[in-house]
Amino acid sequence: MRVTSAADFLPPELTLAALREAVEGCRGCPLWACANHAVLGEGPEDAAVMLVGEQPGNEEDLTGRPFVGPAGRLLDRALAEVGLDRTEVYVTNAVKHFRSEPRGKRRIHKKPGQEHIDACRPWLDAEIAVVRPAVIVCLGATAARALLGDAFRVTRARGTFVPSPLAPHVLATVHPSAVLRAPDSAARRLAYEQFVSDLGRVAERVRGLVEAG
Ligand code: URA
Ligand code: SF4
Repeated sequence: MRVTSAADFLPPELTLAALREAVEGCRGCPLWACANHAVLGEGPEDAAVMLVGEQPGNEEDLTGRPFVGPAGRLLDRALAEVGLDRTEVYVTNAVKHFRSEPRGKRRIHKKPGQEHIDACRPWLDAEIAVVRPAVIVCLGATAARALLGDAFRVTRARGTFVPSPLAPHVLATVHPSAVLRAPDSAARRLAYEQFVSDLGRVAERVRGLVEAG
């Protein structure tokens, strides 16, 4: 039997604890074989905001926790700047295993293919079903493609709320790694400011929801 989806590996009971335990055994696509951990999302089960990245990186793969490496540190700082506490949001990825290529002793990040994104989708859908966030933020093109479709362009539509059946409020912005990859310090500063500005819209929307009760 050729397994092409994570669907067969979902636990019968949908809770974050059950998902976390089950995901380590997922063989829904070939990516599990070269990784140390499956990295499920992290955050409160009743979080109002869910952030969706691409896939775990090296540090995430080693620790089993999402966004704990350089991109995660930048994300934490940007969230704090707009008054969102990392511990209050649910942070996850479109793909749960690290796709990498050996380069000497190091492992280099390799973008997940559409087949990995599709195969892994049941985990993300399950997380959305459990957390039922009011706001979903796609961090970068992979998450945006996974959740908003092929035609969506982050460069054109970033920072604005777009209609989606997934959650009442959905917005895409760049991936924090893109900020880190900016070619020089001036470009990096600008990219960071724009990233913070997009997250500021999210924070504003959340405050509006809280005030509206
Ligand atoms: N990049 C991601 O997309 N997710 C992580 O968890 C870490 C880096
Ligand atoms: Fe399963 Fe996703 Fe890992 Fe593939 S990447 S084995 S679908 S958890």
